[in-house]
Amino acid sequence: MSHCDHLVDVGRRKFLSGAGLAAAGAAAATMVPVHAKAAPGSARVDYPSNRLANIGELKPNEAFNVAYPDADAPGVLLKLGKRVPGGAGPDGDIVGFSTICPHKGFPLNYNGVDKTLNCPGHYSRFDCESGGQQVWGHATQNLPQYMLRIDGKGDIYAEGVDELLYGRLSNVL
Ligand code: FES
Repeated sequence: MSHCDHLVDVGRRKFLSGAGLAAAGAAAATMVPVHAKAAPGSARVDYPSNRLANIGELKPNEAFNVAYPDADAPGVLLKLGKRVPGGAGPDGDIVGFSTICPHKGFPLNYNGVDKTLNCPGHYSRFDCESGGQQVWGHATQNLPQYMLRIDGKGDIYAEGVDELLYGRLSNVL
């Protein structure tokens, strides 16, 4: 038997054993008693509390690059200069957002003129003064915004995200 034939044979056996498991699972499913209750679904995610920066590091209306809830999830902190939804800090003007477009995952760029995050892929735009609300384009959800906490030393912590990050089944992997 050639090497290639051997691999095909292994693949066939794996497929057949998987089919057997599926059949067994289907048979077991038909035997569940009528009174059985499904376990309640758990949609709750435990987010890490991660220090992203200190207030002193932010410059007004300039994107400060961060990542949350892990290194593979890029985002920004912004000090917008006026109190906004979800804003933290003494002036309620510090916000954080994912910078991965919720449409197809292109990286977003900050435009300080109208305080939006903009997608070079298909031109979706998200208003940073309105909780990341989509104001233009193909995306079908608003931009995920961080829940921020600022301690007495001015350290900024992210402790949650309000929308599903692009490409994930759960924000915390
Ligand atoms: Fe951003 Fe399509 S990837 S609008």
